[in-house]
Amino acid sequence: MKILYVASEAAPYAASGGLGDVMGALPASIKKLGGKDTVVSVILPLYRSIADEYRKKMKKIDEFHFYLGWRHAYCGVFEIKAKNVRYLFLDNEYYFYRDQLYGDFDDGERFAYFSRAVVEYIRYSGDIPDILHANDWQSALSIIYLKTKYREDSALSRIKTVFTIHNIEYQGKYDVQILSDVFDLDPSYLPYVEYDGAINLLKGAVATSDAVSTVSENYAKELHNPYFSFGLSPIIDMFGHKMKGIVNGIDLSYFNPNKKNDCIIPFTQTRVREGKAANKKALQESLGLPVDENIPLISMVTRLTAGKGIDLVLHIFEELMEENIQFVILGTGEENYERIFSLLAARHGDRARAILRFDRNLSKQIYASSDLFLMPSKSEPCGLAQMIACRYGTLPVVHGVGGLKDTIIPYGEKNANGFVFENFNAHELLFTVKHALAIKNDNADDWSMLVKQAMKTDFSWDASAQKNLDLYATIIGEKQ
Ligand code: GLC
Repeated sequence: MKILYVASEAAPYAASGGLGDVMGALPASIKKLGGKDTVVSVILPLYRSIADEYRKKMKKIDEFHFYLGWRHAYCGVFEIKAKNVRYLFLDNEYYFYRDQLYGDFDDGERFAYFSRAVVEYIRYSGDIPDILHANDWQSALSIIYLKTKYREDSALSRIKTVFTIHNIEYQGKYDVQILSDVFDLDPSYLPYVEYDGAINLLKGAVATSDAVSTVSENYAKELHNPYFSFGLSPIIDMFGHKMKGIVNGIDLSYFNPNKKNDCIIPFTQTRVREGKAANKKALQESLGLPVDENIPLISMVTRLTAGKGIDLVLHIFEELMEENIQFVILGTGEENYERIFSLLAARHGDRARAILRFDRNLSKQIYASSDLFLMPSKSEPCGLAQMIACRYGTLPVVHGVGGLKDTIIPYGEKNANGFVFENFNAHELLFTVKHALAIKNDNADDWSMLVKQAMKTDFSWDASAQKNLDLYATIIGEKQ
């Protein structure tokens, strides 16, 4: 089976969030499980931000031109082979030689170009995948094009398609007026992509793909509920029959507490207390916090957006700091939140730090050093940080939604690996943190049992990869 993943991010080359992590790990697991008859490729834009160390490894394998409407566009194709997967990078400096991955006024056009270039490259190279698996709105058009403009093409029309929703909040919505000019779609195709008076690319891919998946079972159910669906629950109801929830894993070799020559002091499950204490000391020193093994360290590694429940943390922050704790937050996001956390960290200079950047190494040091990890997301399709925290023996405190509910078992239940609060309420979060701190202080046996169970929980990609392979086999079988 030949599988092509289409995505706007893939770690370690270009990543701004969980999608990048998934594209950096799932394809290799699929290849490992599928064996020698499985050929796996990932295709993404060649962004300016891709580091030189990777550029040096790239080989230019092709170039071609195509029309996106009236635009005549160049496309270079570069390749890196890693973990038995082919990563292909599509080069067009006009669209991708920019400082950030997203956030430009012409993102619609940029990702229309990307999605169209993917389909044109398949056609031009004659290398036809059995499965094209696209992710989020930025690559939605690759499926929409296959099922509309190219549906009469005998080779391309055989390709089966899967679309994964990593977060329904971001839909790719545009004015219907630009349907032909920017997206190069005939007005007769408007019904596929139109929703609520606008072009909605995510809806278009849900409507046209052979199967839809999302990144946890619980989120697949939640999407039928208007509270979680950002307006799309009628569409999810309509296409629910082809929708499946498959929970993500994490890359266990990248996130490995016992990895030598990594940025942390390695430790194993059997020496977790000593290991975490040594890491905590190193982090406290490097951040200029008072060095104290016994003071609980509570951390967050997150995008600073409302969806991540930042407002809850801000609401109770002063009460939280009344506890004898240290607090560290790492991440970037909305300017407002960045400013408030800087002020709060300055006010509590002896116990709090706000580090406003994206830093993979520092994030590992924080996971390895902390006692509790807060993830009070309002909604969370899957969430990776709670799994990474567990892997490093840090207990997550999560709001019981989406993938957080599927992956974290609350204290008190069998195989518990963290703490869960039910309602999106700041004081429920605070109460749950206080409860966790009380267990840490007064009940060392339960605490160390929780830490061991957290580290033991199986968050490997194996189960997820198998379910994806099953899904591919089903849609290939169905259509033959
Ligand atoms: C998005 C979601 C997150 C998920 C990730 C990978 O970033 O918000 O919950 O873990 O995609 O699927």
